[in-house]
Amino acid sequence: MNLKGRDFLTLKDYTPEEIEYLIELAAKLKKMKKDGVVEQPLLGKNVALIFEKTSTRTRCSFEVAAHDLGMGVTYLDPKGSQIGKKESIADTARVLCTMFEGIEYRGFGQEIVEELAKYSSVPVWNGLTNEYHPTQMLADMLTIKEKLGRLKGVKFVYMGDARYNMGNSLMIVCAKLGLHFTACTAKQYFPNAELVEQCREWAKESGGSVTLSDDVKEATKGAEVLYTDVWVSMGEPEEVWKERIEALSPYQVNKAVMENADKNAIFMHCLPAFHDLKTTIGKEIHDKYGLDEMEVTDEVFESEQSVVFEEAENRMHTIKAVMAATLGAY
Ligand code: CP
Ligand code: NVA
Repeated sequence: MNLKGRDFLTLKDYTPEEIEYLIELAAKLKKMKKDGVVEQPLLGKNVALIFEKTSTRTRCSFEVAAHDLGMGVTYLDPKGSQIGKKESIADTARVLCTMFEGIEYRGFGQEIVEELAKYSSVPVWNGLTNEYHPTQMLADMLTIKEKLGRLKGVKFVYMGDARYNMGNSLMIVCAKLGLHFTACTAKQYFPNAELVEQCREWAKESGGSVTLSDDVKEATKGAEVLYTDVWVSMGEPEEVWKERIEALSPYQVNKAVMENADKNAIFMHCLPAFHDLKTTIGKEIHDKYGLDEMEVTDEVFESEQSVVFEEAENRMHTIKAVMAATLGAY
């Protein structure tokens, strides 16, 4: 498998074998890290991390992974660069690729990261756009493999806003790797019909399936993975909270959902999550709408079935695999 020089933008253009290779490589790199093996195959190289939206996991994963591989890192925060304001994406790309061996981008429209990749002569990695979150997918699949021992045939249910980055990307990766994906949500939050069709084609080849349902009881029956995400994503206007709460409250992951699922089911969330009142936004929503918890109850989030922190750890190992493979280290 040779992924040297490739961008990592959506997973749509990665074959199932390439995705599986990256998950396997991440598992190897994870074991090396746990065993205390230090190899710095990319010593002397540097990567730029552009974040036009905030981050805890993705930024830390890129930084720690780059350091583990021997690389230097420059972080460009949402306000600290000329990008988009004084300098176009195309010009930025052509400047950065003279100094760095790879560029990570987190921001708004997918077309921005695509433009960056078009003008960059070094690999560009998507650290989240409105439409996709591909590095998160590798961590999620690695976690499912570790917990359930397999990916093919796993009954995976995503609840919440299925039209955004997480819903889209989970549907793509499940379809490519042969999981049975269900988006369980209100009809207006079903993913884009064209993408659903494309995913159904991939699912035919992998032995997976793609289902859309607004019936919680039926869709979550026997599920092995229950997955959710915030109801309002970064960059969306505050006004959408009201309609989201109204439409998505029936699709909260709670005890009744977990009891309807398989007895060995796991709960997953890309994080950050609104499961209590220990955040500023959580408190504001509580004051305005009276909710103590949103997409997942605190009870489920804190339960034995919840694997969210292992999933978060796997962000680092999988991002390391993406950088290592596309920069030709392994
Ligand atoms: N899951 C995820 O991407 O987290 P951050 O926003 O903290 O990077
Ligand atoms: N849908 C969320 C994912 C965060 C990792 C957002 O875009 O804010």
